[in-house]
Amino acid sequence: MRRVSTEFLIVSCLVMAAATVAVGVNVTYDHRALVIDGKRRVLVSGSIHYPRSTPDMWPGLIQKSKEGGLDVIETYVFWNLHEPVKNQYDFEGRKDLVKFVKLVADAGLYVHLRIGPYVCAEWNYGGFPLWLHFIPGIVLRTDNEPYKVEMKRFTAKIVGMMKDENLYASQGGPIILSQIENEYGNIDKDYGPAAQTYIKWAASMATSLDTGVPWVMCQQRDAPDPIIDTCNGFYCDGYTPNSKNKPTMWTENWTGWFLSFGGAVPYRPVQDIGFAVARFYQRGGTFQNYYMYHGGTNFGRSTGGPFIATSYDYDAPLDEYGAPRQPKFGHLKELHKAIKLCEDALVATDPKSTSLGNNIEASVYKTSTTCAAFLANIDTKKDATVNFNGNSYHLPAWSVSILPDCKNVVFNTAKINSMATIRRFVATNIKDELTASDQISSDWSYISEPVGISSINAFKRPGLVEQINTTADQSDYLWYSISTDSKDDESQTVLHVKSLGHVLHLFVNGQLAGSAIGNANNPTVSKDIPVTLKPGINKLDLLSLTVGLKNYGAFFDTTGAGITGPVELEGLKNGSTIDLSSMRWTYQIGLLGEGQGLETGGSTLWVSGLPKNQPLTWYKTTFDAPMGDNPLAIDLTGMGKGELWVNGQSIGRYWPAYIAPTTGCSDCSYKGPYSSSKCLKGCGKPSQKLYVKSLLTIYKEMYHVPRSWLKPSGNIMVMFEEIGGDPTQISFTTQVLQSLCSQVSETHALPIEEWSQDKSTRKRKQEPKVFLECPHPNQVISSIKFASFGTPQGQCGNFTHGQCKSSNALSILQNACLGLRSCNVGVSTSRFGDPCKGVAKSLAVEVSCE
Ligand code: GAL
Repeated sequence: MRRVSTEFLIVSCLVMAAATVAVGVNVTYDHRALVIDGKRRVLVSGSIHYPRSTPDMWPGLIQKSKEGGLDVIETYVFWNLHEPVKNQYDFEGRKDLVKFVKLVADAGLYVHLRIGPYVCAEWNYGGFPLWLHFIPGIVLRTDNEPYKVEMKRFTAKIVGMMKDENLYASQGGPIILSQIENEYGNIDKDYGPAAQTYIKWAASMATSLDTGVPWVMCQQRDAPDPIIDTCNGFYCDGYTPNSKNKPTMWTENWTGWFLSFGGAVPYRPVQDIGFAVARFYQRGGTFQNYYMYHGGTNFGRSTGGPFIATSYDYDAPLDEYGAPRQPKFGHLKELHKAIKLCEDALVATDPKSTSLGNNIEASVYKTSTTCAAFLANIDTKKDATVNFNGNSYHLPAWSVSILPDCKNVVFNTAKINSMATIRRFVATNIKDELTASDQISSDWSYISEPVGISSINAFKRPGLVEQINTTADQSDYLWYSISTDSKDDESQTVLHVKSLGHVLHLFVNGQLAGSAIGNANNPTVSKDIPVTLKPGINKLDLLSLTVGLKNYGAFFDTTGAGITGPVELEGLKNGSTIDLSSMRWTYQIGLLGEGQGLETGGSTLWVSGLPKNQPLTWYKTTFDAPMGDNPLAIDLTGMGKGELWVNGQSIGRYWPAYIAPTTGCSDCSYKGPYSSSKCLKGCGKPSQKLYVKSLLTIYKEMYHVPRSWLKPSGNIMVMFEEIGGDPTQISFTTQVLQSLCSQVSETHALPIEEWSQDKSTRKRKQEPKVFLECPHPNQVISSIKFASFGTPQGQCGNFTHGQCKSSNALSILQNACLGLRSCNVGVSTSRFGDPCKGVAKSLAVEVSCE
């Protein structure tokens, strides 16, 4: 007995040890694909940047990515977050990279870690910490010793952290791939011959860190072996890497585009994304990454640009708040399933492509045991019917059909089977919230930020200083102050001022006299501001602001900002001009309130009251967390420009006063090449608005307030308003689902789940289906708002019956769906009867969930 139990103990210990020691896998590559554990893989990846959401959101985002069919999560590493001060590292909270990587591993997905450490990413200064700029003799992103020392140190630091936690695949972890640098090839010419030396150095530096997994460089045609050069863009089907031994990889497929303050909102139709992805796999690609899969929020002062907005929604498959954006999410999910059905054929061989006519291309992956085909119609207008292997196929313009057995179409990129959703934001007036609270005082209080110099840290300099060199980006704000003696009686004159950007406000004798604002394309400003001077001494205070530091372009780090001149008083009574540029100015970095830590709500200086439309005002109030757990946003309609903090955490810059141009928006077709300005909405409106479509289209100024930053009651909200606003108009809103919709035609492919590799079952009579599912497990379909089989018109939210409609659609949908979380309804005349013979029919449905 004793012997048996000892043996039992030893065996159990061994089993336990085996369970905790993960086995490392080899990750290599060849000309077809990444090879993981000896197997070539077709991989679908998506970008989620960990600091653009909160740690409590991470598991949900990762889980939804998995449900959406991703194999890999990609993230950049943000150097300036982790090392804000040289040698002082921070990996807490939203910066907990190790935790993020481990959560991805827990979900069974891989990681692509793009260390950079230059990352671009619409991130402040491209991810570089500002202190780098001040190292004597440094030139960033080139063959420069001081820079290379720092780049290597940080890269090695991150690799070391990952190794210590066994996070590389070679150690049993999820990281299968890493990136060094970022799109250097786009701008390397400007760095002259040193660029080549630098890129070779970067390649060997990265390789020497010995991660056991491949490195990539994106947009770097000359990436030295063994680094894989990869493609970024809206389309990458024409890309061939620089060696026959490297696979074709697409590291950034932009799912939309980023938003700038003062710009309209870009979006990218899913049919076009699907087309681009299918074309890529059709033409030999095996790794594709959505940039972004979840864009999220640029909290705090993390945006780059300049002028990048606080929302980084990106029109991504998961919206800013983490909810699936439908039908984008669902349609791509189906596409991934279709591609995975072809994986064996895709990794086995190279494609053979033939033309089936003008703008029609068939690509076949065929071996003795397997065959998969892609049929593409790249015509931007004309649908086509083609013959392939003796069968006829209808190919809508700008679409790809996927045939996992070289015969049956499981998916066409232009035909959306997935449901659409309408989400809206329901307002809760902040005052109601406050009255509902019996706890902390509901009153507003405020502090006026002094105009001009108020801090003991102010200093004087002859002439005008460049802003970034002066503030080191410790604050958005730099005061430039001067006094001028006017010999005249009251006189009207003009202050002519030029600045590298990004925004300036002029105060004359304490009053706001005018502002000048740059934009994302040209941040510089040059403005004539009418000024009234009184006799004697006049105080001119110019508040210059940055709105996120530049993140892209050769030598972007030395672009500079602030009032570099000239500053001139023109049109004085005697006809003269006074050039103030080289006079002695007084400077103050940042606001007095910033130095006093007002953003946390601390200080004894708060005065009860709520002045409206006052420039340079700090506001404070308290509130209870709105009920429920739906995503929360604050609607800042009525405010001008500033920053908002909740319990000391910055939700980001706000700027409802900056209106997008009135032109440039129009209905855009998914057909034809996409560009970042092709599909825009919200012209003539503030940039960071959300459309709340019901009967009326309402625009709200939405800023994400993470739930995890709130406690049930007594939350402190602080705003710094720069130009004047009305805080009584602001309100909390929560995101709710308004409708689920679907429209599927008789000609759509069958649900991919019903695809069977078994040829005999595949022949069974099957029909395309409408599939509807409420997002939350405890919800059911509570009403059928619309159902029509025939030729229904319109879109989700405004469907109408067409001339042809069956009489039983509503009752069939009611019977099939009411009271259930999800339902499937076949789209065919055998179910609905045939209301118009010979006409192509579809089923359109809109339901609500409760
Ligand atoms: C790419 C860059 C990304 C991001 C993207 C635009 O050029 O690599 O970091 O900036 O453009 O969203």
